[in-house]
Amino acid sequence: MNSLLRLFFSVFLLLTSFSVVAATVTIQNFTFTPGVITINLGDSVEWVNQDATTHSTTQDANLWTHDVSPGQSFSQEFTKPGAFNYHCRFHPSMTGTIKVRTADQSRLNIGQGIIAATPKVLPIKLNLTGKIANDVYMGSYLVNAQAGCANCHSCPTYAVGRNPYNGELKQFNATTYLAGGVQIEGQVSPNLTPDTTGKPAGLTRTEFKDLLRTGHDPDVPGRILQVMPWPIFGQMSDNDLNAIYAYLTSIPKAQTPANTCNMGQ
Ligand code: HEC
Repeated sequence: MNSLLRLFFSVFLLLTSFSVVAATVTIQNFTFTPGVITINLGDSVEWVNQDATTHSTTQDANLWTHDVSPGQSFSQEFTKPGAFNYHCRFHPSMTGTIKVRTADQSRLNIGQGIIAATPKVLPIKLNLTGKIANDVYMGSYLVNAQAGCANCHSCPTYAVGRNPYNGELKQFNATTYLAGGVQIEGQVSPNLTPDTTGKPAGLTRTEFKDLLRTGHDPDVPGRILQVMPWPIFGQMSDNDLNAIYAYLTSIPKAQTPANTCNMGQ
């Protein structure tokens, strides 16, 4: 590779590795496609010009403007929520809109997407009967994208051939999802899925929140849970703990596997 090529290549790598492009807008036949897109807060949008003429992406109040030559692309990160209308400064009839979700809307979207989007990360069916869907989706975000409950409470955590630690496309093991059975430091994690009355791990919402705040073992009075990171989780807002509880009541009931797992399996 000659040095100029190598330089181009490393600049390309730099650009692509630091901004994750969530959406691509194609500029073709004097049209932005798709014309309206909705992204999460912090995502980047890339415009790719496939026309033989130069276009621009110019926000209507001039928050940004960038010319894009034929065959070139331009990407930009969106760090403020709102709806941003833009046009091409050379061809003002070309218009488009980028809608950026708020921080909370972005979390809800991710929490829902973990279960609903393709490729499926967690192929379970949620029971939303009698629940506020957004509470459940926020719970999904907190449990699956932040707290890592499945790492310690699912045996095995990932589906066969879908273990990200082996370089495979990630997918949680749905049949034993949060059903416990992981051995950690002499403890075996319990089943968190709903019991026959619909209570996760058999706990009422008050008992669940009390457990996460104080670490008191509900089964053995006086014992403090030794492995559960409850001192960390117990700092969450009541609203967040309620969301986790709502989520745990909506996941499918599952049996704890007969054979225990080690963490990370
Ligand atoms: C580092 C591993 C780990 C993580 C992460 C973890 N847990 Fe646990 N959890 C355990 C273990 C082990 C126990 C068994 C008790 C102990 O800690 O001694 C337990 C116990 C529990 C219990 C008590 C159930 C009962 O009836 O005894 C609940 C409820 C619980 N975990 C919920 C959660 C939730 C919700 C999350 C995610 C927000 C989570 N855990 C994340 C390891 C973990």
